[in-house]
Amino acid sequence: MTDPRIIVALDCATEQQALAMARRLTPDLCRLKVGLELFVAAGPGVVDRLIALGYDVFLDLKLHDIPNTVARACEAAARLGVWMLNVHTLGGSRMLRAAREAVDRGQQRPLLTGVTILTSHSQQDIADIGLSATPAEQVASLARLARQAGLDGVVCSPREAAALRREFGAGFLLVTPGVRPADAALDDQRRVMTPAEAVAQGADYLVIGRPVTGADNPGKVLERVHEQVTGV
Ligand code: C5P
Repeated sequence: MTDPRIIVALDCATEQQALAMARRLTPDLCRLKVGLELFVAAGPGVVDRLIALGYDVFLDLKLHDIPNTVARACEAAARLGVWMLNVHTLGGSRMLRAAREAVDRGQQRPLLTGVTILTSHSQQDIADIGLSATPAEQVASLARLARQAGLDGVVCSPREAAALRREFGAGFLLVTPGVRPADAALDDQRRVMTPAEAVAQGADYLVIGRPVTGADNPGKVLERVHEQVTGV
């Protein structure tokens, strides 16, 4: 079984669009991420159908609520057969532990990762919500919380990957969005790295959306990015 590092973000408005894109890609070279837009619009059936096409699915719902509610949502997500699921580390230690215990109860345990600080947040945004640390310090302390609660890893910016890899060593998964091939448009991403740079910084999995899904030939771009990260 292959272990593709690339996770294509299927940020689509409908199930039909998501399945059409999935058919232009291949599970040999990528996994797929279903986020809030698609999940809210299409419902859990889209996850079933992507799995039926042979894909591993990362369900990116960034769950954040009281521990009991998050635990129950995690159990339900695990029953969908997703490969990876995430929660928001700002939900705190008890919520993170409850999430971990919930996925352990299922028959097929998905990987459980924690979102730290969104890459869209600036230092000022973080200060505005009353957090006094720098984004890098805040990410590190949230990653520690995730690790202590038994999560498999975190979602972070490629900029933070090297420091987290140094602190946590191999085996703690680092999933990084904000990745752009050298010749691609930045879209609304600001602090980006190329796929090869992100892997060199210690990223295990790269989330890439529009550079692949917005291309005339998504399959070809996926192949190119796959080649760029193979053997880094
Ligand atoms: O199209 P693009 O490559 O920018 O897509 C990146 C994906 O990663 C989107 O689905 C976005 O919601 C997600 N993401 C992100 N930054 C984070 C967390 C998730 O861009 N910090």
